[in-house]
Amino acid sequence: DDGLVVLGIETSCDDTAAAVVRGNGEILSQVISSQAELLALYGGVAPKQAEEAHSRVIDKVVQEALDRANLTEKDLSAVAVTIGPGLGLCLRVGVQKARRVAGAFNLPIVGVHHMEAHALVARLVEHELSFPFMALLISGGHNIIVLAHKLGQYTQLGTTVDDAIGEAFDKTAKWLGLDMRRSGGPAVEELALEGDSKSVLFNVPMKNHKDCNFSYAGLKTQVRLAIEAREIDAKCSVSSATKEDRRNRADIAASFQRVAVLHLEEKCERAIDWAMKLEPSIKHMVVSGGVASNQYVRFRLNNIAGSKNLKLVCPPPCLCTDNGVMVAWTGLEHFRVGRFDPPPPAVEPDDFM
Ligand code: KG4
Ligand code: ZN
Repeated sequence: DDGLVVLGIETSCDDTAAAVVRGNGEILSQVISSQAELLALYGGVAPKQAEEAHSRVIDKVVQEALDRANLTEKDLSAVAVTIGPGLGLCLRVGVQKARRVAGAFNLPIVGVHHMEAHALVARLVEHELSFPFMALLISGGHNIIVLAHKLGQYTQLGTTVDDAIGEAFDKTAKWLGLDMRRSGGPAVEELALEGDSKSVLFNVPMKNHKDCNFSYAGLKTQVRLAIEAREIDAKCSVSSATKEDRRNRADIAASFQRVAVLHLEEKCERAIDWAMKLEPSIKHMVVSGGVASNQYVRFRLNNIAGSKNLKLVCPPPCLCTDNGVMVAWTGLEHFRVGRFDPPPPAVEPDDFM
């Protein structure tokens, strides 16, 4: 144990999260306040409302993280905060909070890249996971495959040319009339268990492209057309649908999930071959980001990794979806090698306004 203790703050999207993590990877606390009701109300993330929701709870969430860790700000080595990518208004709430805490207690600040945090949290989970390794990062806004050469040095092997897989899950959930008080992915995964995944024939995207890029906009359209063709009414919730209607919806959910994941499998296989040429010593493939909490995704990608003699490292679901732990941990990784900013001034100009 290097004696380091870092507070991580994450506000890039709709969850306000904070956590305290020790240098040896011990998670001392983890707090998340989600905007589930807002999501249901607006059918997605509305930046202004999300910013206000973050502002309302940020102080409480950070205090709670410190309390549960049985620590005060004085015990911290540094404050880590997500600085992007994400919604600017939302990111600012986290960054200003981090600067207030760091300024008041003379702590260094580590700015963290949200996607790097999704990848590196796998190293907290799996101590054997050393560089170089591959990572498939799948969330609501991003769909990338990277080759991690060493800390801070990454080659992007593929990305989406339009939508990310999480966006396709969320829209499918909405059009199928699933409960939107939580994000769409888990609802689709659950309904898919009742359906026949071969019953609706969706095309696998980008079959003939010889690269490692993704596309989910076309699959989204295919799903919408299938839903319209079966006259499924999204305003009628799945829980009050007739037996036949429910069966139809489950078939679409299962068929969508199968093809959406098949697209991941095909591109991952190709990316692994490419990565192994660039870095022959890789032994691990990380799969992280919100969609990596899906059990079917984990099962299928575990098979792909295995077939290429790589070990799959998939963080537990609560560390795949947005959280403060991944930010604190990535902060620790950078802090250790001297990558951080000095403490900001104790009083921010903002405080005068
Ligand atoms: O990483 P994340 O929490 O936030 C972003 O950075 O976007 O990912 C959120 C995305 C949402 O699109 C959500 O529907 C999806 O991850 N997701 C899932 C599951 N849990 C979350 N997708 C499929 N199956 C799941 N079980
Ligand atoms: Zn994320």
